[in-house]
Amino acid sequence: MGMKHILTLMELDSKDIAMILKLAEMMKEGKRMRMERLKDKVFVMIFQKPSTRTRVSFEVAMRELGGYAIALNANDIQLSRGESIEDTARTLSRYADAIGARVYAHSDVERLARAADVPVINMLSDLYHPCQILGDLLTIKEVKGKLAGLTLAWVGDGNNVCNSLIIGAALTGMIMKIACPKGYEPLEDAVNFAREHNGYVEIMEEPKDAVMGADVIYTDSFVSMGKEAEREERLKVFLPRYQVNDDLIALARSDAIFMHCLPAKRGEEVTDSVIDGAHSVVWQQAENRLHAQKALLYMVLTDSDARRRSGRRVMRSRSRTRSRRSR
Ligand code: CP
Ligand code: NVA
Repeated sequence: MGMKHILTLMELDSKDIAMILKLAEMMKEGKRMRMERLKDKVFVMIFQKPSTRTRVSFEVAMRELGGYAIALNANDIQLSRGESIEDTARTLSRYADAIGARVYAHSDVERLARAADVPVINMLSDLYHPCQILGDLLTIKEVKGKLAGLTLAWVGDGNNVCNSLIIGAALTGMIMKIACPKGYEPLEDAVNFAREHNGYVEIMEEPKDAVMGADVIYTDSFVSMGKEAEREERLKVFLPRYQVNDDLIALARSDAIFMHCLPAKRGEEVTDSVIDGAHSVVWQQAENRLHAQKALLYMVLTDSDARRRSGRRVMRSRSRTRSRRSR
């Protein structure tokens, strides 16, 4: 893997994902775990939106690898007073080994990545949520023992999580069936990427058709962060048809698992009986954010080390002719 920003999940290939999952499994088991793996490395995170799992799992991940994380609320930094995203990226690149960002507009994280000298990780934008999907793939693999050939049914809004999941499913050989209302389909870019990478993606309106015989049923909030103004209209479109309840789960395989990235709006996209029921793996799924992100951080940060080392070599040779040069 070259120096990589992780903005959508399209930046990874099947091999990268397999490696991340393997490393995550080893880290979860505690094998080859040395605190100094990312000793003194710094991960700076910017949050434009609230977060429970992403923030805490990244902070714990850095701590467990011997480095540390700094979480910044976007309102607390000069970004909120009009300092540009580019100038923020240039500044943070001088302190941090990688930058994470949770943003409203995906273009913000793209701008950050263009201007930063260190890898940038999207910690959720309006369009993609790549880190979520790495934890999800780890969970499915743990429970089912494999990924390739499984059928994953997405029920509800074709949102950021769905978009990254389409990419992740294609790269791991899973079949993806998406049931969503007209006008709430996932991004064409994600679907096209999947199809160009031998992925199988089917989009339909009827939840029953998607769930029939599925191995995994996945849903998410009908009202993502930033869409609060559409709440009433969305609930009218999605309910009751797209709620994952016992009747819907009964159509899947008897050993099907229920997944949700969380936070859940119980009683809307999912009933208590399903999220608290025998099929649900949502807590294991939440935990796996930690293990998958440890593996991701390890890959991204050790990789940027190599890049920096070669960068420094270039700098040293140039500094013979020039007096001083910045990174
Ligand atoms: N799933 C997820 O990203 O959760 P948070 O919003 O709590 O980070
Ligand atoms: N789709 C949800 C995911 C939250 C983790 C949102 O964007 O709010």
